[in-house]
Amino acid sequence: MKLHPKFHQLSDISDDEVIIDIGCGTATYWQTFLRSNPNLKLTLIEPDIKLLEIAIQNYSHFPNVTLKTQTSDIPDHSFDKVFSFSVLEHVWNRKVFFSEAARLIKAGGVFHFNYDDGHFRNHLYRNRSMMYRVRNQVKTFLAPLWRFTHSYSRYQSSVSYEEVAELLHINRLTIKYEWFYDLEGLSKLSSLLKDPLLIEFGNLVEQFIIDANSMINSQDSKLSKDQYSFFWTFYASRGITAIKIK
Ligand SMILES: C[S@@+](CC[C@H](N)C(=O)[O-])C[C@H]1O[C@@H](n2cnc3c(N)ncnc32)[C@H](O)[C@@H]1O
Repeated sequence: MKLHPKFHQLSDISDDEVIIDIGCGTATYWQTFLRSNPNLKLTLIEPDIKLLEIAIQNYSHFPNVTLKTQTSDIPDHSFDKVFSFSVLEHVWNRKVFFSEAARLIKAGGVFHFNYDDGHFRNHLYRNRSMMYRVRNQVKTFLAPLWRFTHSYSRYQSSVSYEEVAELLHINRLTIKYEWFYDLEGLSKLSSLLKDPLLIEFGNLVEQFIIDANSMINSQDSKLSKDQYSFFWTFYASRGITAIKIK
């Protein structure tokens, strides 16, 4: 099974909560969850009209789900939890995105999000077609143009950890957990493990990073498409759970 931060973050929800997912795309990943948590009140936000229309069809049988293009008319502090999966690298105004997420969370509530930089490491897509890779390069190159046209799902630009930390801080959001799915994050983790009890674990992580790097960079990788996407997730994703300070 492909391991993805979003599945870990979903496990933190209880049935009586009011939650929102910003940038849901077609949002298929909530359906199974909603069947086992029927009381959950879920708002799904997707600015791309075509994707939103598909999401509306997907959720027509779920009475507790509201779908909208934007959040501006939603009152402050409306949600126990705000989710946003694989959206940040597509957001052209990240200041507005974070202040809006912070505005919507109740004091003490939680913002779960993840982002990745896979789009900007085109060599990692070598199990995809040449056409896919060229399109990906062009999309990144034309990012300022997509921004100008408000083409929400096309715009993509790399996210730095420093930028995220600053935007969280400005909006009184404090990091509770980081899901170290990227190799950079794992390196940071292993460098923090100074405690003698953890040194052995730190060494294992170091070795994993060395092996992972050599496999990712090897031109004659024998990995299958599925193995490759699993690996890709590890290499490029970072998940963060932040709490809204009172
Ligand atoms: C890669 S998709 C992820 C969709 C879904 N969350 C998932 O995990 O499958 C990124 C989505 O972010 C949306 N998006 C881009 N900018 C946004 C913004 N400022 N606010 C909300 N959503 C945005 C895009 O329209 C697109 O549907």
